[in-house]
Amino acid sequence: MGTKSILVIHGPNLNMLGTREPQHYGSQTLADIDQRLQALARADQVRLETFQSNAEAEIIEKIHALSVNRVDYIIINPAAFTHTSIAIRDAISAVKVPFIEVHLSNVHARESFRHHSYFSDIATAVICGLGAEGYFAAYRYIQQL
Ligand code: DQA
Repeated sequence: MGTKSILVIHGPNLNMLGTREPQHYGSQTLADIDQRLQALARADQVRLETFQSNAEAEIIEKIHALSVNRVDYIIINPAAFTHTSIAIRDAISAVKVPFIEVHLSNVHARESFRHHSYFSDIATAVICGLGAEGYFAAYRYIQQL
């Protein structure tokens, strides 16, 4: 078995974490989260890449690139694209990489437009409401596979 590889994708506005609505998203910055994930991966000898974009097309192209440079798993917080993007859903289906959907906030306790996800029915799992811990829970699950 080769080295395990994981791509972590953060959608729009998540670059604002730390200052953005801390009551929903906590006080950790995206750099804090990514550095903690990288530290875990280094210790476990997992290959882990993190990627954030505010642009739907860039996220789609990042996913398409996996058809050449495959990874074992995706951890994705599609952010607002969760509720709108059939295109990102289709991109993941096209490359057939399993994924875990993560949300910092409990989207089901918020506005009704956040209750529907274009990803959940094809995700291995959905983690929401655990704040940044959701990413680490997803990582630990994948790591032990
Ligand atoms: C989010 C929830 C989404 O509804 C919202 O648009 C986000 C972040 C979360 O992590 O809780 O940007 O995905």
